[in-house]
Amino acid sequence: MDADYFSSVFGSAPDATGVAPGRIEFIGNHTDYNGGLVMGASVNLGVRVDIARNNEGVFKLHSKDASESVVEKIDSISRKDGKQSWANYALGVIDQFNKADMKINSGLNIAVTSDLPAGAGMSSSAAFELATACAVAKLFNYNLDRKELAKIGRRAENEFVGLPCGLLDQGVSAFGDVNHLVKIDCFTETFNTVPMPSGVQFWIFNTQKKHALLDSLYSTRFNECKFAFETLKTVLPDIQCLAQVHPDDIVKYGSLMSADIFARALHVTEENDRVRSVANSLACNDISEVGRLLSASHQSSRRLFMNSCEELDFLVERLNNMEGVYGARLTGGGFGGAVMAMTNETFGSTSGSEKLVVRYENRFRNKPTIIQVKLGPGARAL
Ligand code: GLA
Repeated sequence: MDADYFSSVFGSAPDATGVAPGRIEFIGNHTDYNGGLVMGASVNLGVRVDIARNNEGVFKLHSKDASESVVEKIDSISRKDGKQSWANYALGVIDQFNKADMKINSGLNIAVTSDLPAGAGMSSSAAFELATACAVAKLFNYNLDRKELAKIGRRAENEFVGLPCGLLDQGVSAFGDVNHLVKIDCFTETFNTVPMPSGVQFWIFNTQKKHALLDSLYSTRFNECKFAFETLKTVLPDIQCLAQVHPDDIVKYGSLMSADIFARALHVTEENDRVRSVANSLACNDISEVGRLLSASHQSSRRLFMNSCEELDFLVERLNNMEGVYGARLTGGGFGGAVMAMTNETFGSTSGSEKLVVRYENRFRNKPTIIQVKLGPGARAL
């Protein structure tokens, strides 16, 4: 995150700054938009957005990591494509402020920098949204709590960017705290922080593989879950979301669904139970059991939700057999992306990761990137 970038681009100091962290999805894969439970953690890497008013009636957006800047009239914001699509996260947030009657009625100079590798599976997009929301709220004196900030970010993603994501990424970025996990009940939209026992480390192994149809695969899973819910509602009229259904009922009414829809629904409901079990095990400091549940989550994503891939499975399988690893699983949407491993404190000093990279490279002809992340503070205005 570069505090000098704004002045190097615009020639003066910013009036407001927002910073927001990326996240790890700890457990709860695709439970969020099904009204379920999910746990994540904000990391010590993130996005910084500096802003200042201008008198030109336009939003001028510069990103240190993007080759093209964007200029947009304040009264006709539209979604950008190609090399300008990075700006959609900030424009989408501004759009949400306007829609919520918190008018952004002046031009803005906006500069964004990040130390969160894009595409590393830690949701740099949600961090960008939250950093923008914090900076804009500060500059225009809109007093928003963390839940409102998270919801603005999510709506920007749903309505402007066009991805039907749940609350996980924005909720964790907003509510994160040092050495804590964030537990979200996505049905009631309740957020809690849960202390992470000491002696545990987090590692991200990024395959750098991104499925070409990632967004449409995510939407397909979203629609499959919606369909499962609508089908189950015909026999269980009281349910309000898929995650509320007991896994036994998915089995009981399985014949109403195709094999694929059945598998998606079973994953969501069992995964929801796993989040609950992880929270209980954390409360008893039973890290081995937490690790076992993380690995079980991956197997369910692989077999039932079918959003893993060879590269992710390769990493998870090897990591689970390595000394010092409590558990490993894909983190985030899947179909490529990254694996998260929870390890003890000696893991980093072993040569295990290096050997794993060599084996991975022999098999897939490219190297995964490895980052150790710490659990850092949530989004805020500086
Ligand atoms: C992505 C989405 C989240 C969540 C995860 C899968 O990260 O942005 O809302 O659905 O995938 O759990």
